[in-house]
Amino acid sequence: MSNNILAGKVGIISGALDEKSIAWKVALKAHAEGARFVLTNAPLAMRMGEINKLSEQCNAPIIPADATSMEDLEKLFTGAQEHLGGKLDFVLHSIGMSTNIRKGKNYGELNYEWFMKTLDVSALSFHKMMAVAEKQDALNEWGSVVALSYIAAQRVFPDYTDMSQAKAVLESIARNYGYRLGKQKKVRVNTISQSPTKTTAGTGVGGFDAFYDYADKMSPLGNAPAEACADYVVSLFSDLTRYVTMQNLMHDGGFSSTGISEEIVETITKLNS
Ligand SMILES: NC(=O)c1ccc[n+]([C@@H]2O[C@H](COP(=O)([O-])OP(=O)(O)OC[C@H]3O[C@@H](n4cnc5c(N)ncnc54)[C@H](O)[C@@H]3O)[C@@H](O)[C@H]2O)c1
Repeated sequence: MSNNILAGKVGIISGALDEKSIAWKVALKAHAEGARFVLTNAPLAMRMGEINKLSEQCNAPIIPADATSMEDLEKLFTGAQEHLGGKLDFVLHSIGMSTNIRKGKNYGELNYEWFMKTLDVSALSFHKMMAVAEKQDALNEWGSVVALSYIAAQRVFPDYTDMSQAKAVLESIARNYGYRLGKQKKVRVNTISQSPTKTTAGTGVGGFDAFYDYADKMSPLGNAPAEACADYVVSLFSDLTRYVTMQNLMHDGGFSSTGISEEIVETITKLNS
């Protein structure tokens, strides 16, 4: 069902790798709600070619950009404004990558070069995007910038290793840049802390299936699906949430407020008997 709540709005959507990506679903929903936008991803991801399908479906051009490169980001923001015919109303940061996780390093044996890369790709890139947008004065008043986070920023999930720090930095950047862009342009900046989701980045984390099931059993509403996350992002891009800013918004079916659930009690009771 579409209500055209993004009619007339234009923006940038990063991070759509394949149909499972959260950003992919955001692009489809934003398109259905009347938005026009540019898609972007790392040049490496582009080679997989999947994103071309999405580009056709949404009638959205692709501007490749490594989100850690200021030069690429400058071209992205200039190109997007040229293509869309003016300043932007929304930006989605849906980017995460840890070589330490990919290589199965435990928390005590992290490779620090990779750790720095994790922070750069998964957190500093968010700051860089907004710094470029600020420099180019690329955002319209009452615009909205959203990034995706995970509850490992607040709680320990051992296999999430250096991504936990990246998410903590990401959420802090949302608050600090949210203050700055709020003062300058009435632009809001938020992170959405999403349930475990079966995507390429998600399933790459060790023990993913176990903590997906655990979170599902712990959450009174069950894990929030990617489609519902996309709905939430779209609401944050819309004019219906104009005074929500500098927040980390839990989109987790109630997981973060639950101490223990009946399902977990039952499972442990069975195990113990
Ligand atoms: N899947 C989950 O369980 C989950 C839960 C909470 C939050 N998130 C977050 O959601 C966001 C999107 O991830 P997803 O789950 O849709 O997985 P995904 O693998 O589909 O998306 C991750 C994207 O990051 C892009 N990327 C990596 N390095 C990049 C770079 N240098 N420059 C530009 N783009 C780069 C990848 O190409 C990919 O498109 C991430 O921030 C992730 O941490 C995911």
